[in-house]
Amino acid sequence: MATLRLGDTAPDFTADSSVGTINFYDYLGDSWGILFSHPADFTPVCTTELGTAAKFKDEFDKRNVKMLALSVDGAASHAEWIKDINEVQETTVNFPIIADEDKKVSDLYDMIHPKANSTLTVRSVFIIAPDKTVKLTLTYPASTGRNFYELLRVVDSLQLTANHKVATPANWENGQKVVVSPAISTADAKEIFKKGVEEIKPYLRMTPDPSV
Ligand code: BEZ
Repeated sequence: MATLRLGDTAPDFTADSSVGTINFYDYLGDSWGILFSHPADFTPVCTTELGTAAKFKDEFDKRNVKMLALSVDGAASHAEWIKDINEVQETTVNFPIIADEDKKVSDLYDMIHPKANSTLTVRSVFIIAPDKTVKLTLTYPASTGRNFYELLRVVDSLQLTANHKVATPANWENGQKVVVSPAISTADAKEIFKKGVEEIKPYLRMTPDPSV
């Protein structure tokens, strides 16, 4: 599979998981989705990530985002590992983990980067819109655990910019001022954004979050 790019359709698949067979599209339904890979079961960083992800599930739920993890071990191994995660992270893993022993999904999503490791996945993230297009990809090496606050932050940006003609600036957090899309003239922006438009430069116009 060639690398997935933004705007590509996320490929569908059916795979075994910690909760039985899952069809990706059926699982997502009309929701947004976040698919994230873990190099292997019983590894330390992944254990912290999955425990953290479980604690963030309520926040993903609020944003209508279905979580789906992946690791290249079997479902029986996942079941044992989940016991450990629940114990040491003091949580309950509350989303499925794909059991990608044959690496079918990892290959489909190009999650194995042979120059990093030819058998394990890197830490890939795909955020997928309800129309099944890929809206964001991230790739971290095995040695760097992901920041789940950042994953929520990008979901907030993706959902805001999907519905309004705005973009989000550096370090933006939900509720802060946003950038008016460069495609809109300042005159039109003043019509669209009733809360006001601040023209710092002709190409840099700010407006309060139009979604609240
Ligand atoms: C980990 O999850 O801790 C990990 C996995 C593979 C390589 C390095 C770290």
